[in-house]
Amino acid sequence: MVWIYAVDEAALPEGSVAPVYPSGVNVVLARADGRVYAVSGACAHMACPLSLGSMKGHTLTCACHDWRFRKAKQFFADRGIPIEYIDNDLADEATQARIARELDAAGADGFPFVKIGNQIVEGYRPDRYAELLGMTEGAR
Ligand code: FES
Repeated sequence: MVWIYAVDEAALPEGSVAPVYPSGVNVVLARADGRVYAVSGACAHMACPLSLGSMKGHTLTCACHDWRFRKAKQFFADRGIPIEYIDNDLADEATQARIARELDAAGADGFPFVKIGNQIVEGYRPDRYAELLGMTEGAR
């Protein structure tokens, strides 16, 4: 394994994003809950620079058209747990209305969220996912 310098740690405070170009590759680093995440610096939608986006929890929102990038799907994929993933922005009107009703009923108001049984978990909260799934400590 080869390590390549990207940025001084002090330049990436909690909740921030920073463009970096290790070996010329366009990457954005983001820090959430003390951990550093890396994604392509160009948005998957129309290539706006994600370094201009904003962080809320574990969600990086593109400044151009509000596409959101988050880690929740990876939690389930890493553990082989099948999920039904719905991107609200791309869903049909009936699905968006159903999601809005479920969020209202739960008193929740934001994306991303994960629904496990009747419980809605807002944001990226792996400990809560594990608790609701009855996972043992080692499986978390
Ligand atoms: S370019 Fe990022 S949402 Fe459109």
